[in-house]
Amino acid sequence: MTPRSVLVTGGNRGIGLAVARALRDDGHRVAVTHRDDAPPDGLFGVRAEMRDPDSVDAAFTEVEAAHGPVEVLVANAGITRDMPFLRMTEPDFLDVVDINLGGAYRVVRRAARSMIRARWGRVILMSSMVYAYGAAGQANYGASKAGLLGLARSLAWELGPRDITVNLVAPGLIDTEMGRAVTDRRRTELARVTPLGHPGTTEDVAEAVRYLAGESGRYVTGAVLPVSGGLGLGG
Ligand SMILES: NC(=O)c1ccc[n+]([C@@H]2O[C@H](COP(=O)([O-])OP(=O)(O)OC[C@H]3O[C@@H](n4cnc5c(N)ncnc54)[C@H](OP(=O)(O)O)[C@@H]3O)[C@@H](O)[C@H]2O)c1
Repeated sequence: MTPRSVLVTGGNRGIGLAVARALRDDGHRVAVTHRDDAPPDGLFGVRAEMRDPDSVDAAFTEVEAAHGPVEVLVANAGITRDMPFLRMTEPDFLDVVDINLGGAYRVVRRAARSMIRARWGRVILMSSMVYAYGAAGQANYGASKAGLLGLARSLAWELGPRDITVNLVAPGLIDTEMGRAVTDRRRTELARVTPLGHPGTTEDVAEAVRYLAGESGRYVTGAVLPVSGGLGLGG
């Protein structure tokens, strides 16, 4: 295994934290972005706000100085702002798209130049099964997570010749702060349409990222890897 410089956005908690720990335990030099809180123990933290290109740029510069150019990028930071469509104002829609899709664009753009120069790279975008089957109340989130697929597939073509893979991981319901925010009614509904019948853990998602980030994933690009207990089967 070649140790790599890895950056996980939103790696201070939830899925991002599990991904960062798994890749660190594999021997990589892992950095995580965080905002207000202190970075998690034992991980190199850089402050970054996904809406702000200058903040993203500064975070990459810090990571480059400490660990070298980012070779594995996990664009994981994201939010939900669920509500019925008719109540969803333009800022409610655009803020979610700006963070979830715009943020991914900003970090991939900042990482791509050095990956192209190195003729090697791994880009993993954290989508959601909502990209495929949609969900009432999640028009903003669904649009952002489906947008990641168009981004990944276009970049797979453009960056593939330089040995850079670009893939989506699409979790179902995962037990994090975001996952726990769903109503009990919605949780029951999701369990009913999930063949495995229960939410997943952050470690389940981290295993999928590990696969795509390592040599194991070298011939996989433009793909969607669902980690959903079968939710959205065939989507
Ligand atoms: N949990 C699920 O059921 C589920 C299912 C499918 C997909 N996902 C996706 O998985 C990813 C991680 O979700 P999670 O469940 O781990 O959520 P979470 O526990 O709410 O964590 C979200 C992370 O994103 C960061 N973040 C949010 N807005 C940001 C911004 N504007 N700039 C920089 N960082 C920002 C947060 O930083 P702060 O701590 O500073 O807020 C936090 O680190 C998201 O993209 C989410 O859409 C989650």
